Amino acid sequence: MTAKTYAILNYGCQMNESDAEHYAGQLQELGYKAAEDFHDADVVVVNTCCVRESAEKRILGKIGELKGVKANHPGQIVCVAGCMAQKDGEKLIKKHPQIDLLIGTAHVNGFKEILSEYLSEKGERVYNSLEVKESEFEGERIRQSGFSAWIPIMYGCNNFCTYCIVPYTRGRERSRDIESILNEIRDMHEKGFKEVTLLGQNVNSYSFEKEGETITFPILLDRVAKEVPDMRIRFTTSHPKDMSDDTLRVIAANDNICKFIHLPAQSGSSRILKVMNRKYTREWYLDRIAAIRRIVPDCAISTDLFCGFHSETEEDYQETLSLMREVGYDSAFLFKYSERPGTYAASHLEDNVPEEEKVRRLQGMIDLQNKLSEE
Ligand code: SAH
Ligand code: SF4
Ligand code: F3S
Repeated sequence: MTAKTYAILNYGCQMNESDAEHYAGQLQELGYKAAEDFHDADVVVVNTCCVRESAEKRILGKIGELKGVKANHPGQIVCVAGCMAQKDGEKLIKKHPQIDLLIGTAHVNGFKEILSEYLSEKGERVYNSLEVKESEFEGERIRQSGFSAWIPIMYGCNNFCTYCIVPYTRGRERSRDIESILNEIRDMHEKGFKEVTLLGQNVNSYSFEKEGETITFPILLDRVAKEVPDMRIRFTTSHPKDMSDDTLRVIAANDNICKFIHLPAQSGSSRILKVMNRKYTREWYLDRIAAIRRIVPDCAISTDLFCGFHSETEEDYQETLSLMREVGYDSAFLFKYSERPGTYAASHLEDNVPEEEKVRRLQGMIDLQNKLSEE
């Protein structure tokens, strides 16, 4: 008998890449082998993202395509997981009957049981409560590469930037037990991995109470670096409001911590940052950049920026360009604002920069970054 096969179609951020490793691990435990082509797979997991409308549209196209694929492959199981599954729940299944299972972001580790129950025709089809289970943190992982591993250290986000859907799709912020993190990293080390990336929407606010001690991000980072001195340590994402000098000193003091910081600015205008609820000003952000240069000289810096948010004027936009020049980012992820239903901005802050204007501003940012990267 030939083994059953699976395919994972993954979209979105590193958190989704990490979750995809969990899905692969559990499918392999159930005896599935990776399919060469998703058309032929017995189980297809579409791991979705909805941070911008463009991502959502592309994924909906893929889900639509699976209707035809499944028609040619009776018995194929289509699972839709990740942030769209979390956000749209039952609505998705009603509109797309080819979906067998819908798995929200807090159920990644329950997938093995969810799928087994479904196959024995006992289970439900929709799992999207955001109720957090301890087991969320553990589970057998099959890694995509034998070199570099994602290690989630925290889940969810409490920041509620007004434009952003992530707090609604990933739930409240929760930090993972430091022992569980260290165990996983030791295991990766034993298996010959050379690099780990500590993951979270806002790693700098990591906080875990252990025997009366509060383990903060710099303490965790230092422990990790010293635990596996021959592995390279990376981390992402840092929120500028919580990027402390303590963290920078830990980076400087440990040779195996990568001298690279992704510090999303979002905008160069303090007025827009306030409308975004980012909780820092341009001046604060530039002070954090100065601290990086001072404490970790030669550190590479990258960022995320987007244009065209509610009420952004030409003047605000020019401040974003001037921030880019002033910092001289090594690289930048550049976007235009995409209104996300369910966010504060969608109900309170009109999407009032015309699309042509967003496109023009985005192109200006791209051109400038290309020039800066060349230099
Ligand atoms: N937790 C990370 C980023 C999460 S989303 C952080 O706070 O930096 C990744 C990036 O997508 C964000 O940094 C932002 O630049 C962009 N983004 C988020 N929501 C968006 C929206 N509604 N429209 C356009 N870009 C958005
Ligand atoms: Fe979204 Fe802001 Fe949280 Fe990042 S910090 S995930 S941008 S709400
Ligand atoms: Fe997308 Fe969800 Fe990540 S919306 S960016 S996959 S947290």
